[in-house]
Amino acid sequence: MTDWRARARRLVDDLTDQGLLADPRWRSAFEAVPRHVFVPRYHGEDGLPVDGANPEQRDAWLDAVYADSTLVTQVAPVPGTDLLWSTSSSTMPSLMARMLELLDVSDNDRVLEIGTGSGYNAALLCHRLTDTHIASIDLDPTLIADAQERLATLGYRPHLVAGDGAAGIPGTTRHDRIIATCAVPAIPPAWITQLAPDGLIVADVRGEIASSLVVLRRTNRQTVRGRFLAHPGHFMWLRAEVGNPLRDGGTYETVLSLDHSRQRTTDLDPASLDDPNLRFVLQLLAPDIRSIWLDDPSTAVDIEGGREP
Ligand SMILES: C[S@@+](CC[C@H](N)C(=O)[O-])C[C@H]1O[C@@H](n2cnc3c(N)ncnc32)[C@H](O)[C@@H]1O
Repeated sequence: MTDWRARARRLVDDLTDQGLLADPRWRSAFEAVPRHVFVPRYHGEDGLPVDGANPEQRDAWLDAVYADSTLVTQVAPVPGTDLLWSTSSSTMPSLMARMLELLDVSDNDRVLEIGTGSGYNAALLCHRLTDTHIASIDLDPTLIADAQERLATLGYRPHLVAGDGAAGIPGTTRHDRIIATCAVPAIPPAWITQLAPDGLIVADVRGEIASSLVVLRRTNRQTVRGRFLAHPGHFMWLRAEVGNPLRDGGTYETVLSLDHSRQRTTDLDPASLDDPNLRFVLQLLAPDIRSIWLDDPSTAVDIEGGREP
């Protein structure tokens, strides 16, 4: 496989032109780490698999892998429906580059990633830092096993754990940096207690209608302080159950159940929700707010969603 390098270089040039890869050490990581090793197949826009092992799909696969696209790598049925929602994906490289630069790492840093997924981002971290200083956790043990194997083919042996990332990875050594590639409604306390003094968290804090990247610095054992960036992450949720795409587990019915005692009508034009700033402020004011489309008020038909990185 020799033809990926030119594609990787083009992607790096593109990200550099967008001002997203200012640090030459991250540029060299994106040039050197073969994303195709971590995404041997993905689910295309039509939901059908695109497989690099299929000679008829090989070029399209390679083009997509080295484009600035999110690639869905795993789907699972939403319990109670025949809908398939994404449960893992390889994040779009421009978002990954943005978050890695925000992480502001130094050469000896120990980094914890929440949401191993394909293992690609862990590989970028291993290339930039020392692989034994990288830890990554994913809820799904099959993803961890696949990522471990792919990372090993490139000679990387980070500490990989299958488990709930909300608990972080406790241990004697604290993490200088934590990067979360699945979204949380609030920063889990374990991330803060496991952070080294002066440590940094880069994460996507989201609700159902808005999300924002945050950069947070530890100020003491229980506190981090930082700011919301004017950039959404739109990551898939840190969720409760392996194989269930819903955030808190349960079925589609539980997600759709409306508390009728709290229903009201409004003259507000739904199009006003297209304004990301309004959505963000609404989300902050009412963290449980959701957006649900009703064709007929007695039958909920669709939850606002969309593809996630
Ligand atoms: C967008 S993907 C991560 C992409 C990954 N960093 C990569 O480079 O391919 C989000 C990942 O978060 C994982 N995830 C969801 N809930 C989790 C949890 N409670 N703990 C750990 N990982 C979780 C999913 O299984 C999924 O693989």
